[in-house]
Amino acid sequence: MLDLELSIARLVLDHSEIAPVLQRHRLDFCCRGHQTLEAACADRGLDPATVAAELVRAIAARAAGEAPTFDARAASTPRLVAHIVARHHEYLREALPFLQGLSAKVARVHGDHDPRLRTLDDAVQSLCQALPPHLAQEEEVLFPALTSPRPDAAVIGDELRTMFADHLAVGELIHTIRASSDDFSLPEWACNSYRTLFAELLALETDILTHVHLENHVLMPRFT
Ligand SMILES: [Fe+2]
Ligand SMILES: [Fe+2]
Repeated sequence: MLDLELSIARLVLDHSEIAPVLQRHRLDFCCRGHQTLEAACADRGLDPATVAAELVRAIAARAAGEAPTFDARAASTPRLVAHIVARHHEYLREALPFLQGLSAKVARVHGDHDPRLRTLDDAVQSLCQALPPHLAQEEEVLFPALTSPRPDAAVIGDELRTMFADHLAVGELIHTIRASSDDFSLPEWACNSYRTLFAELLALETDILTHVHLENHVLMPRFT
């Protein structure tokens, strides 16, 4: 059911339903997705057999009922690019301004009492500044180059390298957000703004991991 010799990026390509389990264990299937489950678990001090059992349960739960999601590997490049823009870029353009304001507010109001919120807010603000130019670069330069009838290999190579480097930086910020929030754990006294911030940051993490995974492991290999 689950070939543990495969990289975790490949496992997520075959079974997207395992992504939330990996995310919860901070096993990076995006920028460090080339690792096997065993190697990734060793880095995090986790027991690979326990994690593998959880992955198998997630796959069984999906097989028992849920509708299949978008099949990225079967999609043409124009279709895949359109999906990334409509599903992930549009989401970020809505979510980031909201999160930027909410994170600043929560850090301002509760930062004295809970200093981790300041570290968290620094990472959220950096992410909110880094992503819009990255999305624009993909939409204005990279994606048109990938879907051009006469692809320019030099431009594509340069743009894919830039994309990959940007993703590493985004991955670091996502990691800082999760670590500084102690895996999005809330104190008992957290107000509604604080609770909303953590719920929305978890949703943001889920979306970005899926998005970067599609670009790094489905789109990029078609051109490299
Ligand atoms: Fe993107
Ligand atoms: Fe990207």
